[in-house]
Formats: sequence, C-alpha cells, structure tokens
Amino acid sequence: MAHLSKLNHTTDTLISIKADAVSVGIFEDGSLTARGKTINTLLNGQISLAHKRGDIKGKHSETTIFYSENCPVIVIGLGKADEFETECIRKVGGTLVKKAIIKKYAHVACENFGGMSSAPFGRALAEGLVLGSYQFNDYLTKKKDELFELDKVTVSGGSRVGIDKGSIVASGVCFARNLGNHPGNVTTPTRLAHEAKKIGRRGKMKVSVFDREKFTEIGMGALAGVAAGTDEPPKFILMEYWGTKKSVKPKVLVGKGLTFDSGGISIKPAAKMDEMKFDMCGSAVVLGCMQVIATLKPKINVVAAISSTENLSGAKAYKPGDILTAYNGKTIEVLNTDAEGRLILADALSYVSKHYDPAFIFDFATLTGAVLVALGHIATGIMGTNEKLIEKVKKSSAKTGEKVWEFPLWKEYCEQVESKIADVKNIGAPMQAGTIAGGAFLKEFVGEDIPWVHFDIAGTAWGEKEKSYGPKAGATGNVIRLVLDVMGV
Ligand code: BES
Ligand code: MN
Ligand code: ZN
Repeated sequence: MAHLSKLNHTTDTLISIKADAVSVGIFEDGSLTARGKTINTLLNGQISLAHKRGDIKGKHSETTIFYSENCPVIVIGLGKADEFETECIRKVGGTLVKKAIIKKYAHVACENFGGMSSAPFGRALAEGLVLGSYQFNDYLTKKKDELFELDKVTVSGGSRVGIDKGSIVASGVCFARNLGNHPGNVTTPTRLAHEAKKIGRRGKMKVSVFDREKFTEIGMGALAGVAAGTDEPPKFILMEYWGTKKSVKPKVLVGKGLTFDSGGISIKPAAKMDEMKFDMCGSAVVLGCMQVIATLKPKINVVAAISSTENLSGAKAYKPGDILTAYNGKTIEVLNTDAEGRLILADALSYVSKHYDPAFIFDFATLTGAVLVALGHIATGIMGTNEKLIEKVKKSSAKTGEKVWEFPLWKEYCEQVESKIADVKNIGAPMQAGTIAGGAFLKEFVGEDIPWVHFDIAGTAWGEKEKSYGPKAGATGNVIRLVLDVMGV
C-alpha cells in the first residue's frame, strides 16, 4: 500500500502509545490543546518557550521537532484559533504525515489537534493523514531500498466515526490517483472494467461491460467512431448500486475514460503528450466514488457509466469530416478528432438518460485544455442546467476545499456547436470559449429536464502544485470528496 492503511483511534493518552514520534498542535497565539499542554510539561515547557522566543509562530504547515527522552515530538502550527475549520485540520494531517515520511517515523501518534470531537473534524483529519501519505513508487525498482512508507498513525481523541469515514473516503481518492498514475499500457479500458467488476463484487453492485461489438450494435456510434483508431479493446462500463428502494431515483455519475489521447488524426504535438495517460481521470473519479460506496454501503441509489477507449490514428481511425450518430440518434459532424471526450460522453449521457430515471447526472472529464488556461490547476470548471444542483455542488465545494467555478451555458454559446450538415459539430468557435463549447455539446445528449452538472477537470486532475495533503506529482483524485459530499456519503 503506497498510502497509510492503518489509522487507529484511541482514547488513551498520547504518551501511553508506543510510537516513533508523537505530534501536537499550537495556535498562532501560542495556545495549546489539553494534550499539547501535557506534552509541553513533559518537555519542560520548551514548546511555549519556543513560541515566546518567536521560533514557533503557529502558522499553517509550520513544523518543529523537539526531542524528549521517550520519542521525538512534532509540533504543528494550527493558524489562528478562531479561524480553525475542517480544511485547516486536513492540512495539518497532510503536513504531519509528510514530515513523518521524511524523518522515517513508521508509527506516529497524534492528537485531534484543534478539532474538538466532532465527526467532520475527525473525517477531515483522517483525510489529510491518508491523502498526504500517498506515494506512487510502483515502478521505482532500483530505488526500492531508499523508499519509505508510513506504517501506522494512532489518533488520540476526536471522533472515531469521523476518523473511520475519512480514512475510507481518502482510500477511495488514493485508489483513483493510482488508476491515473499507472501508464496507458497498464490502465487500459480492460483494466478499468476489471476494477469496476472488483468494486461491484465487494459492494453488491450489478456491473455490465459492453465490448466494441456490443456497443456498436446498440447504436453507440460516437464511442465506436473514436475507438475505431485503436486495437486496444474499448469498453462501455455500467455499474448499478441499489442501496435503497428501487423507486428512489438513482444519482448518476458518468466518466470519460480515455486511457490515452494522442489526438487521433488531428494529432497532438509531441511535448507533454505523455500526460494524456491522465485522460481517463474522469472515469477514476467515478470509480473512486464507487469504491467508497462499496465500503460504506449508504442508503442511496447510484448508477455509474464509463466510456473507455484510446484515441489513436490506426488504419481504421475516424477522420475530420466524418459524421457519427450517437445513441440518442443525434448526428455529429467531427471537425477535430482531438475533441473526442465529448463524443464518447455523448453516448454515455444518452444511455443513462434513456435507461434510468436519474435524480441528477454528473459527468467528469478532462475535456478541454481551455479550462487550464481559464482556471489553472486551481479550480474545476463546472456548467449545468439546474441552478439548485449547481448551488449544492458549490456548497460541497466549500466544505471539502475542492474548488469549482461556474461557466455560463447561454444560448449564444450553445449555437456555436450547431453544424450546417449535421445536428451538432464537435467543436465551437475557433479559439473561443472552448470549455463552454464542450459543455454546450454535452448538453445535447442529456435527457430533457434531467438536472445535470458537467465537471471539466482537465486543470485539476493532475499537475497541481504540491500542497499539504496533495500528491508530490501526478493524479490528484480531485472532486471525489466533493461528489460524495453532494450525495450525502
Ligand atoms: N484530453 C484533451 C483535453 C486536455 C488537453 C486536457 C490538455 C488536459 C491538457 C481533450 O480531448 C482535447 O484534446 N481537447 C481539445 C478540444 C479542441 C480540439 C476543441 C483541446 O482542448 O485542445
Ligand atoms: Mn483530445
Ligand atoms: Zn481527451
């Protein structure tokens, strides 16, 4: 496991735990928690002395190590006491485990920091601890001896329920990071289907996988068109989780599982093309959520759909100018084979709209380079047709610290994807509002009156600057926590 898998909770005092290091927090004003005070006494008041001298300021992500006779003490800054909220404790968790890994402390005991005993604080702390401990070292065979993994963290105090839940949620995020980080020759559509089946068995879900022949036969002409250029078997993956009465409308999650995007005939430049292994991160969001649902078994209904293929330029590849017919019967003029994500999603959105009666649909896709231009690696671009649902997404975004920013889907933009010879075309106005054009295209394939939000995660799925509980590099698993929060999981 390249992330913390043993996260224990105890009501024992910190010093009674046999660990390689203990950790407590300090606020900017120098105040300590009850457990912090005990440790300060044990250290003959050194922590408060260091604060008085100005060597400790109590700022976020500040760490200082003291040495007692028993074991090292990691003191972590908690920021301002009256501004302490869940995102702060999440950051503290991440900061702590990263320090522990650098120092090679295998087992760390920590307090619940400024977090009182409430479940949201426990959950956030656990998320920070597990997410911050994530490393992707699977292919570093020569450096194996230098690598160090954290074995165990014991939290003294806080909410056991919250800590358990946070640890399960964060494991789902790490699972999604792994799917993204493995290269295109490992995370293939077949592999995604295999993972979906594994999750399904654990979570008592019905999982169906359509191969090329099957999805072509039922009329998924857009997915079939994109998949025509590759020999790697494409898959359409469906997962159904019925956790409550069947009469309750399912929440539907749709993911872009493009396991490698070369651009196809409209080929991409060579620079950074390797990063297009991450083009399946939308499907990783979906599988990450389903992984957590399989463990927690919440009383909700959820349907997941993933369109998965490579986008290559093999002899049978689809071409600019081709016209494809999607599952809902709409015809699509292909003007750029690199705008393939919206094509494979068109079939998935049409399929779930027709066969389920969705409470809502969320789709996740690394859809446009333009969203990276607009929002950088900081926020996910969102668009949708239902204000209430968008408000919900924004609320969960604030709670989880996973930033989103809404783009407008005004009719002037929607007109930009109209084609002269087909129902729609797969690009908008050249060099203009590319992210919105993607959303406007997808809207054509969402059933009438179904609340829907599109998440363009091309900027946030990988490549963000390292932060406390984020990865050093690679896939982030962003928006999984947000989506679970919207679903009340
Ligand atoms: N997967 C890419 C989007 C992407 C590009 C994500 C760079 C992250 C970094 C997507 O399939 C794509 O190629 N989109 C095109 C659309 C265009 C042809 C209308 C793009 O953004 O250039
Ligand atoms: Mn593309
Ligand atoms: Zn793509």
